[in-house]
Amino acid sequence: MQVYLNGQFTSRDKASVSIIDRGFVFGDGIYEVIRVVDGRMFRLEAHLVRMDRGLKGLGIPFTAQQRNELDGVMETLIEENNLQKGEGTIYLQITRGAALPRTHAFPPSDTPPTVMIMASPFVPDTEILEKGGHAITVPDIRWSRCDLKTVNLLPNVMAAQEEKKRNAGGVLMIRDGFVTEGYKNNVFAVFDGTLQTYPDSPYILSGITRDVVFEIAKEEGIPLKMAPIEEKEILKADEVMLTGTITDIQPVVSVDGHRIGMGRPGPVARLLQKGLRHRMDSE
Ligand code: PDD
Repeated sequence: MQVYLNGQFTSRDKASVSIIDRGFVFGDGIYEVIRVVDGRMFRLEAHLVRMDRGLKGLGIPFTAQQRNELDGVMETLIEENNLQKGEGTIYLQITRGAALPRTHAFPPSDTPPTVMIMASPFVPDTEILEKGGHAITVPDIRWSRCDLKTVNLLPNVMAAQEEKKRNAGGVLMIRDGFVTEGYKNNVFAVFDGTLQTYPDSPYILSGITRDVVFEIAKEEGIPLKMAPIEEKEILKADEVMLTGTITDIQPVVSVDGHRIGMGRPGPVARLLQKGLRHRMDSE
């Protein structure tokens, strides 16, 4: 595998970062995951806009020139890793760079950020997309800036491990009695034909796939309600689904053992799956 690290293309096993990198020491950085379909990056611009917002939010200096170079780097990685056909993902991470002494406050502003990008093949989980998953709820123990896609992912890691341990298929995180999102995806529910999701807020990441869902809903005339869903209300939904770059649109057929709707993927989820697939294949 060929990767990109700080201006160089190199093989993954040769690429290494400093032990004083602030990404390693403080989790001080942001990331993006971009879907690649037949060599094309899906909604690249939206990911880069969110990346810029994250860098600004954390105060990591990154010039327009540095940003403009990323497109070409990602194109090269797609070619070098033979992703011109089929499914893949790009992982992009920018940290505040390597600095000593270890101080929590920012290092001098001329400290170069660490930029790492890799491209890998991706295999969608077709079984769960087809049959739906049995989700669990966990407390949302994250901070109050979940709108920034930072590499500080320990609560997400713990939630994912709980899912694995309990052999579940999806996690809904609960803050103050409301479903916020998943650990790597957003949550939607359908009530009487209306699609509902948590509004844009510091408590969720505004997903690129979530925006695609809004687009399809508009096109299909599905009403949309932007309001938090109570944990006990979601059990009464006709449909529940998770959306994300590596999740696509995954139906949820039960939550904490309570059946959702008819206990199988519903018509809205199927419509959205079709709309997303069409866009990924044609854009
Ligand atoms: N996760 N919410 C959280 C907490 C996420 O980490 C993600 C993405 C999403 C969905 O966003 P998008 O549709 O832009 O992928 C929502 C990435 C894929 C990950 O951590 O692997």
